[in-house]
Parts: sequence; C-alpha cells; structure tokens
Amino acid sequence: MDKIIEISGLGKAYTQGHEQIIVLENLDFYISKGEFVSIIGPSGSGKSTFLNIIGLLDDTYSGELKLFGKRLEDLKESEKAVLRLKNIGFVFQFDSLLPEFTVLENIEMPARLSGKQSPGRGLELLKRFDLEFIAGKFPMEISGGEKQRAAMLRALCNNPALLIADEPTGNLDRHNSGVILDDLRRAAGMGTAVLMVTHNEEAARRADKVLRMGGGRLLPEESAK
Ligand SMILES: Nc1ncnc2c1ncn2[C@@H]1O[C@H](COP(=O)(O)OP(=O)(O)OP(=O)(O)O)[C@@H](O)[C@H]1O
Ligand SMILES: [Mg+2]
Repeated sequence: MDKIIEISGLGKAYTQGHEQIIVLENLDFYISKGEFVSIIGPSGSGKSTFLNIIGLLDDTYSGELKLFGKRLEDLKESEKAVLRLKNIGFVFQFDSLLPEFTVLENIEMPARLSGKQSPGRGLELLKRFDLEFIAGKFPMEISGGEKQRAAMLRALCNNPALLIADEPTGNLDRHNSGVILDDLRRAAGMGTAVLMVTHNEEAARRADKVLRMGGGRLLPEESAK
C-alpha cells in the first residue's frame, strides 16, 4: 500500500524549568492511502503532541518523519508549509468556522488560500455528504453537529492526502458522532488517509486499525492490553 506518512524512532520531550518531560519515545508509525486509523489513550499520554508533529505543526522532535517518502528534515520551512497546506487537513474538537462567511465560503477558504482549489469542489462535497442545505447558511444558523461536519468538509476541500482529526466527536451526541464517523469512513473511501484521536472506545473501533498511545509509544490495541 502507498504510505502517506512514515515515522521511525520518534522522540519528543518538553522542557519545563530544568526538567525534561519525555512524552514520545522511540515511536514508529505509518498510515497508508485510504486507511482509517484511530488512536486512543489516556489524557496527557501525548496524542495531541503526536498529531502536531504529524501535521507538520511542530518540528522539535527527534527521529525520522517521511511524507510521501520524502524526509522532512531535508526540507526548508517554506517547503514544509506548502506541503502542509496542500496535503494535510485538520479538524479539531470545537472547531470554529468564521462567523461572517457562509458554510460554503468557509469550506472553500483554506483550499482557496493554498491555491489548490478546483471550482465547485465545496458544493460537490456538501452534496456528497448530504449537506447541500446548509451551503448558504451562516455558522450561527446551523447546529453543533453540522458545524463539526462543515469543519470536516473544510479540511477535505483541497483533497488532502491526510486528514487529521483530534476528538472530532468529542462534543457531539451519539447520533451525530455516528454521522461524523460515517463521514470519516467516506473520506477514507475517497482515498484520504484518516487519522483520528478519540477517548471513545466505540468510536475508535470504527477505524480499520486502532492504536493505543501509552508510555511514549503507539501500539496496536491487542498487544497494548
Ligand atoms: N507546550 C507544552 N509544554 C510543556 N508540556 C506540554 C506542552 N504541551 C503538552 N505538554 C505535556 O505533554 C504531555 C502530553 O500532552 P498532550 O496534549 O499531547 O496529551 P493528550 O494525549 O493529547 O491529552 P488529552 O487527551 O487530554 O488531549 C502532557 O503531560 C502535557 O502536560
Ligand atoms: Mg489532546
């Protein structure tokens, strides 16, 4: 399978005063095209830290990170920024849409900024995810679940190779969580690699592969038990 991201021997420590807090240690990971992977693990185990590194938002780590087989250490800051904009979509818990723009404008915004936008893509996505009815609405006119789904479509609009979702169902009820998980599955079906962090074991099990974060490592569910 085509590996989108491959990480080996990843280490990450935060410095707090004179102390070093080791969060990630000798961690290996990969995700392939169209794969849906979930990560579970206790609060403070390093999940968001890991997502920031994988999303190219934090480069203060040790180890090797390859995106499409290219070593990131070899790239310039500006090259990394372009790679991030074109290939990685983010959706966070309590994700916010810009209030003064319609849902459709919000969805197309990052794609427009990255110069990768194809006309009609936002509306096509809204249709594909049965959300056409909110295209012209403003964020204050839609529900929390719809906002979260719109934020996800915004992350998908430039057709990223990788979609990173940190607790995408965190503030939603069971029904809306299910809808979001169906959406993520659909995104994976469209070829995007989906990496989701969740505290919800039931949600995690909807993925192709469940990894558990703990002791600085990411291990398959079975062997982590
Ligand atoms: N900027 C920072 N400076 C120092 N320590 C940090 C920083 N960010 C995170 N940490 C520490 O690193 C550890 C991992 O944090 P992280 O946010 O990655 O956890 P998490 O698994 O995402 O937790 P949660 O499930 O609560 O979101 C925690 O002990 C946290 O206190
Ligand atoms: Mg977190």
